Amino acid sequence: MKYEKIIPGIFVERNNRFIARAEIETPNGKRCETVHVKNTGRLGELLVPGAAVYLEESSNPARKTAYDLVAVKKEDQIVNIDSSAPNKAVHEWIVKSGYFGNVTKIKPETTYKDSRFDFYVEAGNRKIFVEVKGVTLEHQRAALFPDAPSERAVRHLEELAKALEEGYESYCIFVIQMKGVDYFAPNRRMHTDFADTLEKVCKKGVRPLAFDCLVWENGMQIDRPVPVQFYEKQELLKHIAPPLLQWYDENKRTLPWRENPIPYYVWLSEIMLQQTRVEAVKPYFERFVQNIPDIAALAEVKEDVLLKLWEGLGYYNRARNLKYAAQQIMTEFEGSMPSEYDKLLTLKGIGSYTAGAVASIAFRQPVPAVDGNVLRVMARLTEDDGDIMQPSVKKELEKTLLDIIPTDRPGDFNQALMELGATVCIPNGTPLCAQCPWNTLCMAYRNRSWADYPKKSAKKPRTVEKKTILVIQDDDRVAIRKRPDKGLLAGMYEFPSVDGHLTLQEIHEYIRKKGIPAVRILSLPDSRHIFTHKEWDMKGYLVLTDALAPLYGEKEFLFVSPGETEKSYPIPSAFAAYSAYLHIRTGNEAFRNEPET
Ligand code: ADE
Repeated sequence: MKYEKIIPGIFVERNNRFIARAEIETPNGKRCETVHVKNTGRLGELLVPGAAVYLEESSNPARKTAYDLVAVKKEDQIVNIDSSAPNKAVHEWIVKSGYFGNVTKIKPETTYKDSRFDFYVEAGNRKIFVEVKGVTLEHQRAALFPDAPSERAVRHLEELAKALEEGYESYCIFVIQMKGVDYFAPNRRMHTDFADTLEKVCKKGVRPLAFDCLVWENGMQIDRPVPVQFYEKQELLKHIAPPLLQWYDENKRTLPWRENPIPYYVWLSEIMLQQTRVEAVKPYFERFVQNIPDIAALAEVKEDVLLKLWEGLGYYNRARNLKYAAQQIMTEFEGSMPSEYDKLLTLKGIGSYTAGAVASIAFRQPVPAVDGNVLRVMARLTEDDGDIMQPSVKKELEKTLLDIIPTDRPGDFNQALMELGATVCIPNGTPLCAQCPWNTLCMAYRNRSWADYPKKSAKKPRTVEKKTILVIQDDDRVAIRKRPDKGLLAGMYEFPSVDGHLTLQEIHEYIRKKGIPAVRILSLPDSRHIFTHKEWDMKGYLVLTDALAPLYGEKEFLFVSPGETEKSYPIPSAFAAYSAYLHIRTGNEAFRNEPET
């Protein structure tokens, strides 16, 4: 739609709903002109003194005012505020877009029973009513309607729903008279009834559409579809706890540490769960607490026993930190885990996530616990574009959740968020949105954009290290050695390994230097192990030696039987391909085929 004659002006004041004053340039200099406001809404944030405005020369000779105020500049864009513009723009759009198919009739302002709709459209067999709403209010990139309470707008929605019952299609089209918004939402704070009615009639089948517009000083045209949400982002968050908790009550998994959420169990389980999935953690947890029943025992445990119980979970420093923190608890907190978030943070290995989980689950403190699951679920819910690899994004979410966490069930709320992420809003593959308690709230569900969230910047590529792994075996024993006390897999046991891929000759040389007589050297399968920041590309060899090797081999190596290794020497799963060759079970495998006790 186009205006015939537009002049610029500067807004001065609004005298009443229909009348304003604006300064305009004339050949005789500047003059303050009384103008007609073509919109009865508040327009409070747009019509501010000094704002650049656009005035159309009035074509209505009956009017006392010579100009109509039709658009206003907001920062670097123009917002059209002419309430007759949306209908004109929609009329053009129905004709040009082909959205309704082959349109054979368009009748503006059509009476249907007690209602009057903006358009009646026929397209093939389809009979369609269209109600148009102009949207001029924008807040934090949301387009909001209405900008003043409007009972008429509520009535229109209800009438659209009635028409639906009689076989018509019903559309409510929100024409956002500007660019630069991310989504449309009903203005719930301004008019709750309108928002509730919109949601209700849409559930019945009324179709809500929203479009933004290209706006020029002398015209406006519908541009692109904009997602329709029933809640503004900030508003949405106030509604998430009740359905989430109800879903959790009905669907939560029975987990050993949930049955009896004492601080030690909660803490231990949360550290283990940072390593792997719930199902994989269960047997580790059970075995760990059988062997180390409380914090006092953890503070005293021998490192080899600790690492053996942790074997297969990876990140062995987490196990060492557990023991260190247990010692802190014994000396600094009289043997009782502190309940306050800030004190928990002083314990080794406890960061904001674990402190939040322990404080909320074990001590009912209303603090958030944000892990990767929670970041993903929340990013999808609100279509948050923040890069979840940035610590600031996690901090921001913690702040947001702090405001909405239910004080009567903080631990359940946090666990429900994690559980939703682990079982419904899953990271790989299609989320199970049909089962989600938030599927009427979730922005990513509504806009089918779940695959775009969370936003995640690329990690630094892992470095690849070549390694040669030597399984040095005499009749019934195998050589292992302890890894250094610091660094990757610190203090664990491993098969002797050498950096790089050695040739057979180099292996012979290496073995000879270690004082071990090699009888035969055979290739084992290649293997690859992925750590967080690096990857091992391994070539393995079986070095058969004679039974006396342990006598003259270097003291660096321990010759042990496979059974002993399994019981007493923690071998990380990075070597699983080679320990399997000797039928040594490590980590997860050790739980399989365990005789019933
Ligand atoms: N993942 C990590 N901690 C969890 C918990 N407490 N409940 C469910 N999933 C989790």
